[in-house]
Amino acid sequence: MKIAIYPGSFDPITNGHLDIIERATNIFDKVFVAIAQNIVKDPLFTVEERLQQIKDSTNHNKNIEAEYFSGLLVDYASSKKAQSIIRGLRAVSDFEYEFQMALMNRKLREDLETVFLMSNEKYTYLNSTIVKEIACHGGDVSNFVPAKIEKQLRQKFENNDC
Ligand code: PNS
Repeated sequence: MKIAIYPGSFDPITNGHLDIIERATNIFDKVFVAIAQNIVKDPLFTVEERLQQIKDSTNHNKNIEAEYFSGLLVDYASSKKAQSIIRGLRAVSDFEYEFQMALMNRKLREDLETVFLMSNEKYTYLNSTIVKEIACHGGDVSNFVPAKIEKQLRQKFENNDC
């Protein structure tokens, strides 16, 4: 059974992430979408909120599971018997960070392969940070995230000065 982990902060999950997840399910039998702690990020949504957002957005496919983990990604991958880590690549600007993470994860666990998937070009400019910034300024993010998350973003920023 081919098992992959798609790790990230997912704060919140975007249509770009969902595109990568769908592509991954065409290659792998099981995909764990795993919320991890990124020590340099201060999330807007709680882990519980993000987990629910991912579950709501992927519940049409029983080969996708959403989870949270703490600790190292390589250890979590071992606990799931995963052979691969999925990461999305949008633009050249992603490369250095992704390259560093992939090589470090390989150093930590040699047999765990990082697989990069190219997102649909219509999501090249999309990431969670830019979606939050647009939402914070009252902009329309309906093309970038599922409808329920769009509503949650509006609620989060209701009384917020950007
Ligand atoms: O969506 P992000 O924030 O770019 O994802 C980064 C993430 C969460 C995948 C990375 O920070 C991570 O793997 N965190 C878990 C802890 C870990 O294993 N760190 C070493 C990575 S080389």
